[in-house]
Amino acid sequence: MTHVDVARLKDHVGKPVTVRGWLYNCRSKGKIHFLQVRDGSGMVQAVLVKGVLADADFERVGKLGQESSLEVDGTVREDVRSPSGVELDVTGVRPIQDVKDYPIALQEHGPDFLLQNRHLWLRSRKQHAVMRIRSRIETAIRGFFDDRGFTLVDAPIFTPSACEGTTTLFEVKYFDDDKAYLTQSGQLYMEAAAMALGKVYCFGPVFRAEKSKTRKHLTEFWMLEPEIAYGTLEDVMDISEALIVHIFSEVLRACRQDLATLERDVTKLEDVARGGFPRVTYAEAAKILVDMNSGFVPGNDFGAPDEQALATHFGRPVFIHRWPAEIKAFYMKRDPNDPSLALGVDMIAPEGYGEIIGGGQRAEDLDFLLEQIKLHQLPQEAFEWYLDLRRYGTVPHAGFGLGLERTVAWVTGREHIRECIPFPRMLYRIYP
Ligand code: 4AD
Ligand code: MG
Repeated sequence: MTHVDVARLKDHVGKPVTVRGWLYNCRSKGKIHFLQVRDGSGMVQAVLVKGVLADADFERVGKLGQESSLEVDGTVREDVRSPSGVELDVTGVRPIQDVKDYPIALQEHGPDFLLQNRHLWLRSRKQHAVMRIRSRIETAIRGFFDDRGFTLVDAPIFTPSACEGTTTLFEVKYFDDDKAYLTQSGQLYMEAAAMALGKVYCFGPVFRAEKSKTRKHLTEFWMLEPEIAYGTLEDVMDISEALIVHIFSEVLRACRQDLATLERDVTKLEDVARGGFPRVTYAEAAKILVDMNSGFVPGNDFGAPDEQALATHFGRPVFIHRWPAEIKAFYMKRDPNDPSLALGVDMIAPEGYGEIIGGGQRAEDLDFLLEQIKLHQLPQEAFEWYLDLRRYGTVPHAGFGLGLERTVAWVTGREHIRECIPFPRMLYRIYP
C-alpha cells in the first residue's frame, strides 16, 4: 500500500493508503474505535470497526496510549465535516511502540511544565500551527528579497566586537588567550557586503545577554537584516512596509487552517495586509504620549507601556523615525536638518507586540564615525575593517533588522514569544 501524508489524503479518495504517525487520541464507542492519527502534516480520524481485525488486536489498539507510534492502513473516504475533509476506514493497524503515561495530557498544563517538556510540547496542535506559520514566514521573507534582486549573505556568529551596545554581549573564550563575542546583529557585515553586492540580506540567529524577563525578549533569536547601498531612511520604511504586507498576505493565503487552530482573529491580519502604515517622527510620538499624560519623559526611549499606548493610538503598525541621537546606536547617520537627531526608525506593531523592526540610514563619513566610536568607548582596532568601508568608496546606505519571533507572535496572536521559536533560550532557560 502507498504511504501518503495526511495533508495529501484528499487526493486519494476511494483508494487504499498507509498513514504513518502517532496516536493523538482514541475514543471508543461500543464496537468502534475512533483513532486521531497525526503525522506532522495533519490529523485524520481513522475509524476501526470491530471484526476488521482479530478480536485481540482490536482490544490492543483500543488500549494504545497517547503518542503511541503506529502505521494505519485504510481506505480514504470523503467527509465534509472533518477539518482534513476525509476520514480513513481502517483495514489494518501496526503499532510500533505502545506508549504509557505520555507526560503532556490533552488538558491544560502550566507554562513552566510545558517549557521543560518543549521537546514533546512541539507535538501539540497549536504548537504545530505556530511552527508551520513560522516556516511560512521565513519562506515569504526569503522570497520577498530574492525576487527583488537581493543576495543572501550569511553573517558570522563569532565576532570581535559589539554592534548594539556592550551591555548585552555574550563573551566566549576563543582558544588560548583570545575572546570573541556571539553576534548581536549581522548589520556591520551586511554593510561590507552591500558595498560589494549592492542589495544584500542575512537571516540567522543573533544573541543578546538581556537580563529582561519579558514576553518579548529571548537571549537567542532570529533576525532578518537587509542592507542597501545608496539606500535612504525613506527606502527603509518603504521596503519594511512592503515586506510586512507580503508576510501577512502570504500567511493569510497559505495558513488559514493553522490560523483557525490558533483562533487568531484574521480581520486583524487582513487590516495589516492592506498596508498604509502611518509614519511619525519621534517628536510627534512623544507629543502624543505627553498629551495623554502618560508620564512619558521626552528624550527617553519608549518603554513597553509607551509602545502599547502608541499602538493603541494608531491601531495599526506605525513607523517612528528621527530619534534623539543619544539613545541610538553609534553607526546612525545624523539628520542634516537637525544633527541632534539620528536617521533611525522603529516599527511598532499594534495589539501590544511592540517593536518589530529597527533600522535606518548609516553614517557614511569616516571622521564622524571615528568620533562616535570614541564617544561610545568602543575599541577602534576591532572596527578598522568597518572604517575601511568609509575609506574606500563610501556611499549613503541604509538597512534594518526584523525580529522573527516577535513577527511570529504578532501573526499567530501568541501572548509570549517563547512559543514562537522551536527551542527558546531565555534568562533562566537553556533546557531542553
Ligand atoms: O533594534 P535592534 O537591536 O536592531 C539591530 O540590531 C540593528 N543592528 C538591525 C539592523 O539595522 N540591521 O533589533 C532589531 C529587531 C527588533 O526590532 C526586535 O524585533 C528584535 O530585533 N529583537 C529581539 N527579539 C527577541 N528578543 C530580543 N532580546 C530582541 N532584541 C531585539
Ligand atoms: Mg531597536
